[in-house]
Amino acid sequence: MTERSAAQFNAHADQYARSEVHRAGPSLPVLLRLAAPTPADHALDVATGTGNTALALAPHVDRVTGIDVADAMLAHARDRAAREGQANSVFTHGDAEALPFADGTFTLVTSRHAPHHFAHLDRFLREAWRVLRPGGRLVIADQISPTPELQAWTDTYQRLRDPSHHAQRPVQAWQALSAQAGFTWAAYEVVPYDLPFDWWTQQSGCTPGTVAALRAHAATLDAAQQQAAGLILNEAGDLIAHREPMLVVRLDKTTA
Ligand SMILES: C[S@@+](CC[C@H](N)C(=O)[O-])C[C@H]1O[C@@H](n2cnc3c(N)ncnc32)[C@H](O)[C@@H]1O
Repeated sequence: MTERSAAQFNAHADQYARSEVHRAGPSLPVLLRLAAPTPADHALDVATGTGNTALALAPHVDRVTGIDVADAMLAHARDRAAREGQANSVFTHGDAEALPFADGTFTLVTSRHAPHHFAHLDRFLREAWRVLRPGGRLVIADQISPTPELQAWTDTYQRLRDPSHHAQRPVQAWQALSAQAGFTWAAYEVVPYDLPFDWWTQQSGCTPGTVAALRAHAATLDAAQQQAAGLILNEAGDLIAHREPMLVVRLDKTTA
């Protein structure tokens, strides 16, 4: 799965670097508000991609490290940091499930629009816990399945579009997994993203065959299920967009 993510995002790094949805989408200000970064923070942004979250944190913290498995994405992050003169940011290769840092290195860990790619979310959560100091916080922004029942359909839909997609869990699963890792569920919001179908499929390099398969998969749901899944159709019944709920949550490491 890590190799699949690196291949997918190395191939489409230029589109991501230009994407306003990733650079400035509505989950980012909510993540910053819940993270409440301070000049005392040493921050880690996991699966940083082109550095959108790390570089939004940089002006507010002492220093920030961004890690990712896709080197082409990291190259964009380094270029942007240099252009913006954000000298307290560092970008390095690393896997979310085996963080290359000593225990208790960071006061703040973030990961935005990425954990649905991780093959073992439980391992990432345990690693985030390990590299945080007691009193530290983990702030996640990630797409969720609107209901537990829709997860299997949603995962197939997302994986058709991007083969590095792993799992889009409902809030209940996030609550259970973060508690198992030792975190306290401190605060959360669900931020809706309305994503035009043409933009969404072009962003990840879908072929006409994949676009047809996505439309056929959408047609496997009845009208009530399509509405619950957030699918938006025009009067002719063509899929034109979908609404993706984005969970933004702060998890606290309250014990050692
Ligand atoms: C949608 S992009 C990143 C978005 C970025 N965090 C932002 O705020 O714009 C998802 C990123 O997750 C990275 N990724 C996927 N699996 C990973 C893993 N196991 N470890 C580290 N990075 C991973 C991909 O390489 C990709 O750059």
